[in-house]
Amino acid sequence: MSHPKVTVIGAGNVGATTAQRIAEAGLADVVLVDIVEGLPQGKALDLAEAAPVLGHDCRVTGTNDYADTAGSDVIVVTSGLARQPGMSRDDLLAKNAGIVRAVVSQAAAVSPDAIIIVVTNPLDAMCHVALEASGFPRERVIGMAGVLDSARFRSFIAEELGVSVTNTHAFVLGGHGDTMVPLPRYSTVGGVPLTELLPAERIEALVDRTRNGGAEVVALLKTGSAFYAPAASTYQMVDAILNDRHMILPCAVHLQGEFGVAGLFVGVPVRLGRSGVEQVVTIELTADEQTAFDASAAAVQGLVTRMAELAAEAAAAKG
Ligand code: APR
Repeated sequence: MSHPKVTVIGAGNVGATTAQRIAEAGLADVVLVDIVEGLPQGKALDLAEAAPVLGHDCRVTGTNDYADTAGSDVIVVTSGLARQPGMSRDDLLAKNAGIVRAVVSQAAAVSPDAIIIVVTNPLDAMCHVALEASGFPRERVIGMAGVLDSARFRSFIAEELGVSVTNTHAFVLGGHGDTMVPLPRYSTVGGVPLTELLPAERIEALVDRTRNGGAEVVALLKTGSAFYAPAASTYQMVDAILNDRHMILPCAVHLQGEFGVAGLFVGVPVRLGRSGVEQVVTIELTADEQTAFDASAAAVQGLVTRMAELAAEAAAAKG
């Protein structure tokens, strides 16, 4: 039986770890792509040589040529630059937009039926680039952020209450960044809402830590950013899609009026299956939650607007 095919673009920390998870779970053959020659080939060979020990028969190959990615079922986009010292947010936004645009147009051209999962930051803005560059319908361009943010929240909840992570459930909505919207009311331990288990100030402390989850890891690593939890989260989305699980997960999708937002990628609960986003699951928000959600959407809009300005400036400078 042939396996599904997943292309992972960017053979760095997140990309290679995602490839490893997918192959080791026996989920799909993986093609790793990178702009650096030898890097995806070397990591793929190393992963392939681990297969006999681990006992899976998924093929892992590396390439710099998008022709090798043709006919992929899922395309995971992790290529990009990390923010370097001295680099402004605008620089990062413009550079990663250029990278994501280039890789998505090449990959989408040879895999017209694929589902794209965007991981590169700034996440919500990069989703816009991927939607445009691919020309795919919104059901097939999905951003990975909510699963990761919710996983961070769940790990803190489990630690605080001394329970198994498997007893926890959490929803973090909104944009991926400082304005993310963790929803304690919809976060539960053994089915009991968090708001009944912890005082408000403890919940606020956990929410705060979740908001700064990425920065906390960066501060410890000093070079580079988190990749184990981002890769695990991406893997869960690929698994939900390829195994047609109809799984409800928080993901960034291009909203078309849901939650009062239209034309923007914002994190919301969606049902994921073999066709991608099967449904945007709308849930009731309190006035405060809706205000936080709207602020998050406004922050995404700010990035998208800025990205367009930077592109116009670059075009003008070229003459
Ligand atoms: N085409 C293909 N690959 C590229 C391109 C390009 N145009 N530009 C850069 N890359 C590759 C780099 O060569 C590198 O191998 O993308 C890879 C990025 O890997 P890392 O620097 O290790 O970054 P990583 O930690 O994997 O994070 C990737 O995911 O979570 C986000 O914020 C994170 O945006 C970042 C992305």
